[in-house]
Amino acid sequence: MMNRLSPSILAADFSRLGEQIREADEAGAEYIHIDVMDGMFVPSISFGMPVISSIRKVTKKVFDVHLMVEDPGRYIDDFAACGADLITVHAEACTHLHRVVSQIREKGLKVGVALNPATSLNVLDHILEDVDMILIMTVNPGFGGQAFIGSTLEKIRRLKKIIEERQLCVDIQVDGGINEKTLPVVLEAGANVIVAGSAVFKGNVSENVKLLKDIMTEAENKRKEA
Ligand code: DX5
Ligand code: ZN
Repeated sequence: MMNRLSPSILAADFSRLGEQIREADEAGAEYIHIDVMDGMFVPSISFGMPVISSIRKVTKKVFDVHLMVEDPGRYIDDFAACGADLITVHAEACTHLHRVVSQIREKGLKVGVALNPATSLNVLDHILEDVDMILIMTVNPGFGGQAFIGSTLEKIRRLKKIIEERQLCVDIQVDGGINEKTLPVVLEAGANVIVAGSAVFKGNVSENVKLLKDIMTEAENKRKEA
């Protein structure tokens, strides 16, 4: 599976959001990670459709929309209309996960399912065949800038093994506490879609993107040699 970097705009300077997204795009980020929080599923409230519609004008990169929202099925049409390419919903937030996954597919979009750190991989047993990506949360969702939870590494490894055993083509995304130190470790465990908020938007955006992408390329080269 190809490695991809998905900078989380939650950590951006919102007064210069367009500019910062353009910088991440030009430095080589493949996706843009968009964290939508409703103040119910997670404690914070972030931003919604009008912001996504506006930033859709500044880049053609994949809009990777992470819905930290209760009952997200209510909003799939809206997020499709404002320019999402990939929509990820939390298994914990959906009573009818299979229905919501189908709703996203029917819009012609890619589908992801996210799991909180304490949620077992077992919930994927009957949905793994129907998704493009699984998001293993490496922090408890709700805030940027939190510390990586080490016990999620074993979960990434186990998921990677299950995907290989079932011969599926499913990306493994990680989100939370990813920086130049934790990145090589999650790549080694099997993650290939990397979300990074603070590590991209705090400081010089293009230098940060290049640094993380170099680590990802190095890991890919090592894998090819092995
Ligand atoms: C957390 C969000 C993340 C967050 C990551 O609930 O889903 O995408 O922005 O931020 P960092 O990379 O700073 O941990
Ligand atoms: Zn996120």
